[in-house]
Amino acid sequence: MSTLSSPSGAVRPAPPLTRLRSKHLLSAADLTAEEIVLILDTAEAMQEIGTRRIKKVPALRGQTVVNLFLEPSTRTRTSFEIAEKRLSADTLNIAGGETLADMARTLEAMAPDLLVVRHAFSGACHLLADICNARVINAGDGMHEHPTQALLDAFTIRAHKPSIAGLKVTIVGDLLHSRVLRSNILLLHALGADVWLCGPSTLMLPGSERFGVHATTAIDEALAGADVVMLLRVQFERMRGRFFPSVREYFEMFGITAERLRRAGPDAIVMHPGPMNRGVEIASDVADGPSSVILEQVANGVAIRMAVLYLLAGVEVDEVEP
Ligand code: CP
Repeated sequence: MSTLSSPSGAVRPAPPLTRLRSKHLLSAADLTAEEIVLILDTAEAMQEIGTRRIKKVPALRGQTVVNLFLEPSTRTRTSFEIAEKRLSADTLNIAGGETLADMARTLEAMAPDLLVVRHAFSGACHLLADICNARVINAGDGMHEHPTQALLDAFTIRAHKPSIAGLKVTIVGDLLHSRVLRSNILLLHALGADVWLCGPSTLMLPGSERFGVHATTAIDEALAGADVVMLLRVQFERMRGRFFPSVREYFEMFGITAERLRRAGPDAIVMHPGPMNRGVEIASDVADGPSSVILEQVANGVAIRMAVLYLLAGVEVDEVEP
């Protein structure tokens, strides 16, 4: 917990954090550990709203949210839309058609309060944040980051484990092309997890050692005693050329089967941000098996996105209480 010095010089605990310091959520690096916990705690309160008969609160009434999704998305787009509606925001969806800078100026003319952006270009969200007055939420930009995915992943882990600090979290797959990975490394590191990365040498994340993570091509070492096994999609659509000999060989060497999963800890949970390539990075019986929390991740996306929208909009937490 952070502390403050009183006039007498005595150290007293700082009041609990109630809002985010940054205007935008562009990167997981925008968040301190304290802010991450605030978002996760707020998401717990938001989750309760989803259990009510009338799943709606007036927290964002009068605020306009524009969803700008210029790359395919099922989970993120849908969960943001549900989150916005549950918070009573006025929402509109834009699918693109002109340059990003022109679109930004057009949007700015309509003065939205929040922009939720998915784009194939790493840095698109930063560009929009520079041009627009609106608060910008990164819903996935190129190979850069996907911070709300990392937040919902942390929220899901927290629901299954007493603490994220000290957990062995093993992330296996296409590390090179994954924006989910970059956000997860930053977030899990901030929360004190012991992060292991594993994949073929051709798909390793360059410079990962500066984040204090372990990186290996040895799948058995990476899985040994893991508390969380997080799989990443092989992103064929981002590949120029061949990164491994064949899908069959990839699955043999890195695919998570029930047999391979036995090397992880006895209560290990299996995660995947989706969409999954069954039979490539994950066997179907693992994806649908008792250790899988993949559909919980999808469900938790709504509560996390409600929390992020709400906290960025700067509304006091008490206002969501019934
Ligand atoms: N995890 C994720 O970003 O999924 P979508 O591409 O379906 O939004």
